Amino acid sequence: MKLILAIFATLIALVYSRDECRVFSCSSIENEERVKHCAERDENDFGSWNVKQCNQKNSFCKTFGFKSPGALQYPARCEVIEPEEGEEEEKPFANNLGVGVEGDHCESYKDCHRSYYSKAKCEDNVCKASTKEGSKCKVHIDCPMGHFCDSKTCVKSRKAGQNCTKEIECEIGHSCLQLVEHDNQENICIPDSYLDDGVLFSYADTGFFNIKETDNLEGKQLEPTFSSHCESINQVQLGKNLFQCRKADTNLIPDLSRKAKGSNCIIQTYTHEDPKMFELQTNKTEKSLCGFNKDSKAWCPLKAGDKIAQYLYFNWVDKKNSFKCSRFSQNDPQTGSICHDLFVAQQADDEDLFSFTKFKATVLNPDSAQVWANTANNNICVAKSLTQDFWGNHFATFSHYTH
Ligand SMILES: *[C@@H]1O[C@H](CO)[C@@H](O)[C@H](O)[C@H]1NC(C)=O
Ligand SMILES: *[C@@H]1O[C@H](CO)[C@@H](O)[C@H](O)[C@H]1NC(C)=O
Repeated sequence: MKLILAIFATLIALVYSRDECRVFSCSSIENEERVKHCAERDENDFGSWNVKQCNQKNSFCKTFGFKSPGALQYPARCEVIEPEEGEEEEKPFANNLGVGVEGDHCESYKDCHRSYYSKAKCEDNVCKASTKEGSKCKVHIDCPMGHFCDSKTCVKSRKAGQNCTKEIECEIGHSCLQLVEHDNQENICIPDSYLDDGVLFSYADTGFFNIKETDNLEGKQLEPTFSSHCESINQVQLGKNLFQCRKADTNLIPDLSRKAKGSNCIIQTYTHEDPKMFELQTNKTEKSLCGFNKDSKAWCPLKAGDKIAQYLYFNWVDKKNSFKCSRFSQNDPQTGSICHDLFVAQQADDEDLFSFTKFKATVLNPDSAQVWANTANNNICVAKSLTQDFWGNHFATFSHYTH
């Protein structure tokens, strides 16, 4: 009997180890507050897993984050998940009075930075400095939005193409860079996402960007790296303080879904060490991964050059550019300084704002390939349970993301 069981177990293991991905769908359970597993194999369809929806309304198995689909042996409890209500509203700035810069959210004038130079006010929940161009100042945040403190005087931030020495001198959404092959060796303010493929640049303000001035890059494979300066959103480091915009890694086949896990995904990459060969494309291979799918598909890793990734990133950029914010805002309520427009969008669970979180989680982070596979093509109920940690309250653009 034992032997027969053992053979049977081996058979199951064999079926199990096929490269097909499991299907995740939902089924409700009756009268059971505690469930042993969040997902259980479907009795009739061995490859399918039922994500249990509990009997209460909005009640799902407790999520366990971005675990891979292979790690489903977790005990779990039924929990009510209420996508629309959100958490209890935190009162902003309770412990951090008086650091709001112009454009920041405020409840009273006490939330705004006030000094000998600026008698800031709080008007319609927005901090407003009392200074203007030419006013005396000691620190940048004494000055109004779009200005910085230069030799104790508020001066206008530098616009695109104007010279600069430090990052903070440029308008918000610009960086102080030197275009290496230009005739004059001046640093100028460059708008974000502006530089073309092949453009060589150096940072005027390496400290601001925490640039590692790596000594020996010679003979090392160039690393494609996310870039806010390049139109392609990708750059490589060629020298101590020498960078070049390059096309971002892109899947050769735009449809990222595959029949099985472990399929070869061909990724076009642009990492030749010679800057003149910036357009030379080479192939590298990565493997498709299973996630919590509704149709048994595996997914190639999402790359910065792929359509969905670009969509996620630029959606957020457009949103951000529509805000009126100071470049000196901390944009973090914990610090007592967050741009009012951003604050309002966050309170409203703005989907375009959330798309940057998606971009980071599915493209930039170290475990992004698995997070992408786990969340692509979810069943809505799977998104509300197994991958709830990822989606939070953001189910409104659910279909956008899965196309
Ligand atoms: C920037 O340009 C202005 C006007 O052309 C000049 O007066 C100033 O010295 C320059 N600043 C730097 C940092 O090069
Ligand atoms: C990359 O792979 C594709 C598909 O296999 C092939 O057609 C193409 O020639 C390859 N490119 C390079 C540069 O090897």
